[in-house]
Amino acid sequence: MHILLFGGSGQLGTEIRRRWVKHDISAPSSSEVDVENEEALIAALNSAHFDAVINCTAFHHVDNCESAPERAFAINALAVDRLARLCRKRDYTFVTISTDYVFDGKDRTENGQHRKPYIEEDIPHPISTYGISKFAGELLVDRLQMKSFVVRTCGLYGTTISSSKGYTFIDRIISQARAEEPLRVVNDIVSSPTFAGHLADALNALLATTAYGLYHAVDEGMVSWHAFALETLRQAGFNYEVEAIDSAARNMHARRPAFSALSSEKLNALGIAMPSWKDGIRDYLAQRHLQEAE
Ligand SMILES: NC(=O)c1ccc[n+]([C@@H]2O[C@H](COP(=O)([O-])OP(=O)(O)OC[C@H]3O[C@@H](n4cnc5c(N)ncnc54)[C@H](OP(=O)(O)O)[C@@H]3O)[C@@H](O)[C@H]2O)c1
Repeated sequence: MHILLFGGSGQLGTEIRRRWVKHDISAPSSSEVDVENEEALIAALNSAHFDAVINCTAFHHVDNCESAPERAFAINALAVDRLARLCRKRDYTFVTISTDYVFDGKDRTENGQHRKPYIEEDIPHPISTYGISKFAGELLVDRLQMKSFVVRTCGLYGTTISSSKGYTFIDRIISQARAEEPLRVVNDIVSSPTFAGHLADALNALLATTAYGLYHAVDEGMVSWHAFALETLRQAGFNYEVEAIDSAARNMHARRPAFSALSSEKLNALGIAMPSWKDGIRDYLAQRHLQEAE
């Protein structure tokens, strides 16, 4: 397939470029094509015939989105709409990525235990500007009833550092343990952290189908960030203490769902399996190791 990829320098975009070796990928940088600029988008889409357009761009610094809602909507909703309409006109398949933050995480606790990861039929109720802007992007694509895949993922991390966040959780945990700095990690937020390499593989498999629609694609299982940090340290060979804290202690600007694990069952029904969140840490560390050795 001839693919046009936006956001190719990001965590997910880099994994797509690394792993989709059978495809011919054009990936203009953000300085070459700003997705907010319609003329630049039209020129990019007209530069060749493409089979599919993949949108991995986002403004996803969740706290900064609260103070810059115009920018959040410009990139996470209006640019997605623009891209989708341009693809529909050309009958290109369109793939765009959304988020677990379309959910509020309420009423997901039974007997003190988090249960029931969200499925595609669950009704979103975003509680942050970021989540609202991403949900708007989903709805704008859905209304076009086109050849599209809208894929929600969760706690995405890759070995390329996100320009919007500037660090990965795993690297931060390991470097603080190595420096013997105190580690404090929230214990009351549970989700399905997903290695970008696994998501890139799943998207490649999904693109080989015509089962268009909305999907959840996350590493299997659910875990708190505290338990995720402990498993990271175990796999990286550290025996180091991590203090469990409440998210309220972090004084974050945006509200976040306390529970936002997703179920990939619909994806699994197409024969596309997702590895577990523990495999995600393993594969991330292996890839990081290879990069450091290069
Ligand atoms: N990271 C998470 O925890 C998470 C969780 C759930 C869902 N998601 C979703 O997953 C997708 C991929 O996220 P990611 O973590 O791979 O993102 P990322 O690493 O921050 O990469 C974002 C990409 O978007 C590009 N970009 C931003 N604004 C642009 C613009 N105006 N024009 C053109 N390109 C622009 C960036 O280019 P520059 O680097 O040149 O600025 C970068 O290539 C996003 O849709 C995100 O909402 C992420």
